[in-house]
Amino acid sequence: MTVAAARAKASLPGRCIVLADAEILVRHAAAWLLNRVLSTPGRIAVCVAGGETPRPVYELLAHSPYRDCFPWDQVHWFWGDERCVPPDHPRSNFAMVRAALLDHVPVPSTKIHPIPANQQPERAAAMYESELKRFYGANALAPDRPLFTATLLGVGTNGHTASLFPGSGALRESTHWAAAVPEATPEPRVTLTYPALDSSAAVAFLASGAAKRPILDRLARGDDLPVAHIHPVGSTTWLLDRDAAP
Ligand code: 6PG
Repeated sequence: MTVAAARAKASLPGRCIVLADAEILVRHAAAWLLNRVLSTPGRIAVCVAGGETPRPVYELLAHSPYRDCFPWDQVHWFWGDERCVPPDHPRSNFAMVRAALLDHVPVPSTKIHPIPANQQPERAAAMYESELKRFYGANALAPDRPLFTATLLGVGTNGHTASLFPGSGALRESTHWAAAVPEATPEPRVTLTYPALDSSAAVAFLASGAAKRPILDRLARGDDLPVAHIHPVGSTTWLLDRDAAP
């Protein structure tokens, strides 16, 4: 196969939108989330990612015009993963999303569902799973009734997503909705598992910058990476800037 043919064949799993730069990517991601939320009737659950890429998306949502048209009282907020640190710790994903977004918008506190990660990861994972099941209203996920309306995810340079790291036992979790990642450094983590993340009506992966291109190249070639095993019951959209695009 020629190089050109290999390139033509390689593609990311899902719809791929390449934006000119990181700023346009952020605007596109905010619009994507707003559209998903506005086009979904009834109770809405958004699952957010940690990391640096989505932070400006959350900041944008906290400002006009997003702030003014987002149905804050209908949306429940969940986290895809968390570090086992106090909720105000600089590495807490909850603290990041709160500082960037939730502290600045009229979201009822009953609709904010952080991972209770300030404890042993196994216990935190079990508690979060109970909370997710209570919210969902059942102990089993039905493919025609996704847990999450919209899920934001990132990808690490080693192919992880959420806190599903290469070689982790959490990758093999096929029953539980949340799992401990005791081997994570500098502190253990809790992550949603494939079954929970797959129970999404729409997933958007955000990746920006040249450092992400090698791993996205590998993903496009079909390498066996943690991120490659996310298969939502709904749609998958990749939002990339030009530097990251394979
Ligand atoms: C986290 C994440 C993680 C993140 C990727 C990409 O808590 O860090 O949820 O999976 O999405 O590591 O992070 P960046 O957006 O910072 O590259």
